[in-house]
Amino acid sequence: MSSLAIVHSRAQIGIQALPVTIEVHLTNGLPRLSIVGLPETAVKESQDRVRSALLNSQFEFPLQRVTINLAPADLPKEGGRFDLAIAIGILAASHQISANELSQYEFIGELALNGELRPVRGVLPMAIEARNSQRQVVVPNDNATEASMVNNASVLPIKHLLDICKHLQGTNLITPFFTTEKSNVIDSIHIADLSEVRGQYHAKRALEVTAAGGHNLLMLGPPGTGKTMLASRITGILPPMVESEALATATIASIAIGGFNVQNWGIRPFRSPHHTASGVALVGGGSHPRPGEISLAHNGILFLDELPEFDKRVLEVLREPLESGHIVISRAAQQAKFPANFQLVAAMNPCPCGYLGDPSNRCSCSPQQVGRYRAKISGPLLDRIDIHIEVPNIPRTELRKDIVRETSAEVRKRVIAARNLQLQRAGKANNLLGNQEIEKFCHLSDTDENLLDTAIEQLGLSARAWYRILKVARTIADLAGSEDIQTHHLTESITYRRLERKKYSA
Ligand SMILES: Nc1ncnc2c1ncn2[C@@H]1O[C@H](COP(=O)(O)OP(=O)(O)OP(=O)(O)O)[C@@H](O)[C@H]1O
Ligand SMILES: [Mg+2]
Repeated sequence: MSSLAIVHSRAQIGIQALPVTIEVHLTNGLPRLSIVGLPETAVKESQDRVRSALLNSQFEFPLQRVTINLAPADLPKEGGRFDLAIAIGILAASHQISANELSQYEFIGELALNGELRPVRGVLPMAIEARNSQRQVVVPNDNATEASMVNNASVLPIKHLLDICKHLQGTNLITPFFTTEKSNVIDSIHIADLSEVRGQYHAKRALEVTAAGGHNLLMLGPPGTGKTMLASRITGILPPMVESEALATATIASIAIGGFNVQNWGIRPFRSPHHTASGVALVGGGSHPRPGEISLAHNGILFLDELPEFDKRVLEVLREPLESGHIVISRAAQQAKFPANFQLVAAMNPCPCGYLGDPSNRCSCSPQQVGRYRAKISGPLLDRIDIHIEVPNIPRTELRKDIVRETSAEVRKRVIAARNLQLQRAGKANNLLGNQEIEKFCHLSDTDENLLDTAIEQLGLSARAWYRILKVARTIADLAGSEDIQTHHLTESITYRRLERKKYSA
């Protein structure tokens, strides 16, 4: 006698949750279990966990030949995520539970030896796909909130293998779980406020433009002038994420080490890796490619403090995703593409001692030292940064002045208004405009065009810079609520590139 059961689950490849069917075949013969279909060690170990979980849940482990096929065979499969599906397959094939409605469900979860469910990574993308396939998704209880972030997904959370068996038998039905936690909580969480930063109006303005258009920013200045302080306050003035952005950002967190935290739903990420971070940590990698910091910063900010301290090769890798908004990681086993549409915010001192150009004349660096320091950041990387500003020392009188400064909430209002104009115009932030869209939406008068040409020539900037200056000018006009880019919008935008020439070419 032989019998077959088919159970649906999904493998995690990059950010995709690809369908996997678990076929369990029982035949008479010497009791033996084999798992085929490119399983990795952790999946092979699953047989021991499943055996114990079944026995500890008062089920029988079939005394037959059990063949488990994870199809398609060419898809790499890792981790304990298939435990639950394998257990259900064995129970259905051995007629201990009903197999009638199995095709309406997808299963994910790792089993403990006592039959309890352990949370796994990547539940969110799986819930999206299960919904798209019009199936209910059965998940470990600890993953329920994460899965329920997906609108219209039908999520069945379980604590124990027996929970789902009773549900399938119709004796004790599980109610689908809906989250109440899904709200954009930016206003309720505490992010340090921009009003705490004294002076530095030029830098604050640049921060506002950066936030409004999704641009990249580099701050240059001596120690202790507020660069780190300013950067860490940008999250508080960024516009809210739309649903699809929130889902994409949450998906990356869901498959990354550390997992997705529901409290971060809808909040643009702010990632600030230390300068000792490796290339893999920054851009992603591993034999099963995992997203790196640049992808975890998708739709948010990647803050690189002390930019020249980063390994130069690591920084160079940023060039490609800064243009394309994604990163492709190729490994022998598989290739994965992760979204990485982040805004780069960076801070640095002008020289190793930090005081070059300071009125106090304190700088003790030799020109060679300054040259070596600057050379750590390549021209092509600088070329991709739209806004370069100086954050100088501010006079003590300015520090002590007790004036009312604008709060993050006030600035954010302007940012949101400007971003809404962009979304209405092109459906995206200015930074994401393609060259054709730039020509369409960032029209200049003839005089202004000449002005820009002259500036590009004088500053020795590239064609890329030409387009980037236009995008920033568009954002400045949007902040002013102006339909056209006017001369002063353009000149402000050009100003943000002046430093590049002046300061870095030591
Ligand atoms: N503009 C400012 N307004 C209020 N406080 C400031 C300002 N600038 C600096 N501070 C104070 O100095 C501290 C150091 O500032 P911050 O870390 O931002 O300096 P930095 O420019 O990043 O310096 P470094 O180049 O050494 O990294 C802040 O925590 C804050 O207390
Ligand atoms: Mg700092």
